[in-house]
Amino acid sequence: MSVTRSWFESVAEAQRRAERRLPRSVYGALVAGTERGLTMDDNVAAFEQLGFAPHVADLAATRDLATTVMGVALSMPVVISPTGVQAVHPDGELPVARAAASRGVAMGLSSFASRSIEDVAGAGAPVLFQVYWSGDRDAMVARLERARAAGAAGLILTLDWSFAHGRDWGSPWIPERLDLAAMARLAPEALARPGWLWSFVSSGHLPGLEAPNMARPGGLTPTFFQAYGEWMATPPPAWADVAWLRGQWDGPFMVKGICRVDDARRVVDVGASALSVSNHGGNNLDGTPASIRALASVADAVGDQVEVLLDGGVRRGGDVAKALAMGARAVMIGRASLWGLAANGQAGVENVLDILRTGLDATLRALGRARADELTRDDVIAPVGFSRVLGS
Ligand SMILES: Cc1cc2nc3c(=O)[nH]c(=O)nc-3n(C[C@H](O)[C@H](O)[C@H](O)COP(=O)(O)O)c2cc1C
Repeated sequence: MSVTRSWFESVAEAQRRAERRLPRSVYGALVAGTERGLTMDDNVAAFEQLGFAPHVADLAATRDLATTVMGVALSMPVVISPTGVQAVHPDGELPVARAAASRGVAMGLSSFASRSIEDVAGAGAPVLFQVYWSGDRDAMVARLERARAAGAAGLILTLDWSFAHGRDWGSPWIPERLDLAAMARLAPEALARPGWLWSFVSSGHLPGLEAPNMARPGGLTPTFFQAYGEWMATPPPAWADVAWLRGQWDGPFMVKGICRVDDARRVVDVGASALSVSNHGGNNLDGTPASIRALASVADAVGDQVEVLLDGGVRRGGDVAKALAMGARAVMIGRASLWGLAANGQAGVENVLDILRTGLDATLRALGRARADELTRDDVIAPVGFSRVLGS
């Protein structure tokens, strides 16, 4: 690998570069979080509390990181988590999809993404299309049919969202549309980030702030906030509704946002193929424990009846190893890939994936493991009371 000035050695450095490159509001939208930020911070802090117990001899000379998730072959146990984010890069989610394809991982595509499922699926990575419980049943079925026709490899239903707004550190202002008034208001922060501004100006288009995957068949593309309004107005689903949606999709199906063992069992009951232990990256109900704390109990509750993934707070290859040791089959990354995208486009996301791969490989070597799926809880040292059992 040739080391250029745009290469970075850690996700922390990618985040610093993202902060320097992005306008304040765009960076703030990626930091996200809710209320006090307790859950967002605990997602990262909890990984720091887990230690390792390394060996020094009898180590494996080569390590096998490959696995499958929802029937998709992956070069390592990492999937890019769906993130509905606008205005980071002029090509939106396309560079993320290209990076996923070049590094042999799958990509979750948010239904609030700025690029269409058709465009993103054409980039070559297996796409797991993510939906919320939004709109009437016809709209949901149409969304699924569109994803199927575009070649989505699986469906992710994200359930953890309670429309809590407000952050103690302040929320970024995001306009409904980039009209003249909005541009005037955002001009000072955009002008302070000439690299970012030039990338959009030279691409010939401004951030669309639209959600093309939420369009009704033959209908107009809604703005992000129009789509958000539809979702907000939709009564939350019962488990029977989740079972109904599962029945509308004949491929692999993940439920994302699980932290309780009783909910995990309901995910098995509805016939899902996978679940992600997740708290939406700390963007939902503040005070929910870090997802890594809830992982072991959920994994124990469902056994091998459903594939268990984890997302929230993964920033290095060692974190991937910790999650696998605690019972995950794979992890999903949200902000890490967004920092990479902001820092250096497709190459930045590839850089992040390479950091995770080399970090996981080095960790396996030190732990004397030849395969990522050999990791067990004996490989990590957890302080007393680390894990939490939510529900029963
Ligand atoms: C800016 C942002 C936007 C997100 N948008 C979505 C989304 O549209 N759909 C979804 O299922 N999860 C969404 N998430 C949650 C991520 O998929 C994932 O659960 C979370 O980012 C994992 O935590 P991490 O950022 O610490 O890796 C979003 C997260 C962030 C930070």
